[in-house]
This record gives sequence, structure tokens and C-alpha cells, in this order.
Amino acid sequence: MSEEFQDRAKQYREMGKTAFILGYTGECGKELVKSLSKNKIFNKVVLIGRRKVDLTPDPGPAFEQKVVDFDKLEEYTEAFQGAQVGYCCLGTTKGKAGKRGFIKVDRDYVLKSAEIAKSTGCQHFSVITASTANKDSMLLYVKIKGEVEHSLTQMAFDKLSIFKPAGLLCDRTERRIMEKVALTFMKPWIYFFPTIGSVPTSYVGTAMVIDTVTPGEENPRIYNNAQIHSLCQQNK
Ligand SMILES: NC(=O)c1ccc[n+]([C@@H]2O[C@H](COP(=O)([O-])OP(=O)(O)OC[C@H]3O[C@@H](n4cnc5c(N)ncnc54)[C@H](OP(=O)(O)O)[C@@H]3O)[C@@H](O)[C@H]2O)c1
Repeated sequence: MSEEFQDRAKQYREMGKTAFILGYTGECGKELVKSLSKNKIFNKVVLIGRRKVDLTPDPGPAFEQKVVDFDKLEEYTEAFQGAQVGYCCLGTTKGKAGKRGFIKVDRDYVLKSAEIAKSTGCQHFSVITASTANKDSMLLYVKIKGEVEHSLTQMAFDKLSIFKPAGLLCDRTERRIMEKVALTFMKPWIYFFPTIGSVPTSYVGTAMVIDTVTPGEENPRIYNNAQIHSLCQQNK
């Protein structure tokens, strides 16, 4: 990482902050954990999920897993307590969870978590939505992502960062046939135009960390797919 990033990370580390991550077992979430473990900008990172997982490689003693029931999040405010920064990498698909399940995870859980985080003193909320997000769309996925962006901007976080990736590139643990087919067709496009239409999950995780330590007044900070790429390139 660049010298400028290292300096900023050092200054940030000295503030002794705590963060939480939602969706840390997912593809972007795992990359975020990796980057935070490497750059050590927080005193403590609470990993909030519906299950405990074997974390390999071990991210270190600063990381602690807490299991919550996402349908009763208001009973788990303790998990959010003390965190000044919150990262949200939650998500599912309609294929996996059904329409109701998708809306619940991708919108309701995200917004409820943000609401609790705000009430427990979170100043900076950082979330992944999608490049296509639009609350007025007729398409469910696009609409839900847009509604999340819109509602979060109403919550008055001191700092709100919204990451809007296009197709995520990774060696996905879960089998997603449609995503695989789409990415296979996109391969020539990805080769010739790497910053349009796709982004590696490692870039998303790294970009979230770079954004955290980067000062600036802009709020919300919105990163489209190309900006996620350039944030990582600039700080290499
Ligand atoms: N796929 C793409 O190409 C693409 C493109 C643009 C934006 N996005 C968005 O980017 C975000 C991150 O995507 P990703 O591919 O990294 O996600 P992912 O690998 O599918 O991981 C999703 C995370 O959400 C958690 N989760 C799912 N259902 C849950 C439930 N019912 N209760 C509690 N937790 C639940 C998962 O936990 P478990 O491990 O316990 O299931 C996991 O930690 C998502 O919001 C996605 O919509 C994706």
C-alpha cells in the first residue's frame, strides 16, 4: 500500500477506534476482514453474524465473533455498542432466499442494523449496495438497493460511505449458476475494460479500508465501480 495510505492508517490507528462488520462471512466481507487484519486500523473489530465460523487465516486477537438473531436485532444492541465505525456487506439472492427473504436481508436487516448502530454511537457507516441501485426502478434488486441508499442518507451519520460495485469477481464458495454464466459471457469485456462492469471482491474490501482512513468533508461518499478500482490503484 502507498506511503500516503500508511501514514493515514497510522494516524487513524492512534485514535483507538472500534468497528463492527456485518456479512463478514461473505465474499466482500472476508476481503474486508483480511484487509483490516493486515492494516490494523482498529483496536477492536466485532464480527456480527448469524453463526460462528472458523476464521482462517486467524485475523488476530482484535477480532471477535458475535452471533445475533437478525430477526430480533433490537435484542442484540450490545453487539453494536462501542463501535464508532460499522461496515455492512450483507446480502442474499432471490434465488436463495425468495423475494421476501431477499428484501429482509438486503434491505430490512441493513437498515435495522444501521438504525441500532446510529443509536449506539456509530459515526461512520460503510455499506455495499450495487452499481444499478435505483429506488424508483420496477426491478426488485435494483429498487431494494436504491431504497437502502435513500434511507441511509436520511439517517444523518457523520460519515456515510456507499460502495456500488458492478459484477463481483471472486472464487465464490457458494454455487451461483446464473452469476457464473453471466461472468463467463463477460470475460472478453472484463479483459478489455477491467474497470467497467466488474470488480474483484478484494478491491471492494480494500477500498472500504482506504475510504475509512481518508479524510474529507463529502457526505455521503459514493463510490461507483470505476472509483472502487481507482481508489485501490491510487493507494497501491
Ligand atoms: N454478486 C454480485 O455480482 C454483486 C454485484 C453488486 C453488488 N453486490 C452486493 O454486494 C454485497 C456483498 O456481496 P457478496 O457477494 O460479498 O455477499 P455474499 O458472499 O453472498 O455474503 C453475504 C453475507 O450476508 C450474510 N447473510 C445472507 N443471508 C443472511 C441471513 N438470512 N441472515 C444473516 N446474514 C445473512 C451471509 O452470512 P452467511 O455466511 O451466514 O450466509 C454473508 O455473510 C451484497 O449486498 C450484494 O447484493 C453483489
